[in-house]
Amino acid sequence: MILSPSLLSSDFGRLADELAALEEAGLSWVHWDVMDGMFVPNITLGAPIIKRLRKNSKLFFDVHLMVQSPERYIGDFVDAGADMLVVHAEATNHLERTLSEIRRQGAQCGVALNPHTPLSVLDYVLDQLDMVLIMSVNPGFGGQKFIPFSMRKIEELSAMIKGRGLKTLIQVDGGVDPENTPELVCRGADVLVSGSAFFGHPPYRQRHEAFQAAAAR
Ligand code: DX5
Ligand code: ZN
Repeated sequence: MILSPSLLSSDFGRLADELAALEEAGLSWVHWDVMDGMFVPNITLGAPIIKRLRKNSKLFFDVHLMVQSPERYIGDFVDAGADMLVVHAEATNHLERTLSEIRRQGAQCGVALNPHTPLSVLDYVLDQLDMVLIMSVNPGFGGQKFIPFSMRKIEELSAMIKGRGLKTLIQVDGGVDPENTPELVCRGADVLVSGSAFFGHPPYRQRHEAFQAAAAR
């Protein structure tokens, strides 16, 4: 299991220190929540901030674009140093073109699905994806409660991926904590995003170990 801490719950006034602390604590991924105030109500941060912080971090930058028409910004985020760009299926009219463009520009690509969005939207694009992000809360805010039907969705997606002989990662985002981690991993999750349940419980090394121990159960 890969844990990707969501910076949404970190101290935005000390982002450089937070990134250094994650690396120091043995994390390998970090999750950036980019919100545009249109696709979701909040506005967070954009490519210039990621670009500046990229200079001093070796972490894998997992960038979750909660942005309407994300195709407008692919170049900016790849140039900023995103390793993986995840776009919402609900936010773009031309999903296949958006994904091809992300890959053409040299980043890994993923599709995020809101809780109500069926897996069938992935049918024709699944084999070009590095990751699928199952939203287990409605996006836009940290600290929300995990939506229980997400478990079934993860299991069905896992079967779909295995059935096609693919290696696509399954990421789960929203309300993830060490208590639901064992079941998430059991159902097929590979990458867990955690905001409040991670940053609210320092020190980070011990908290990461708690998630990993839960995943191993
Ligand atoms: C929600 C974001 C999440 C959020 C998760 O819109 O996509 O990444 O930070 O926060 P928690 O783990 O607190 O639910
Ligand atoms: Zn996210």
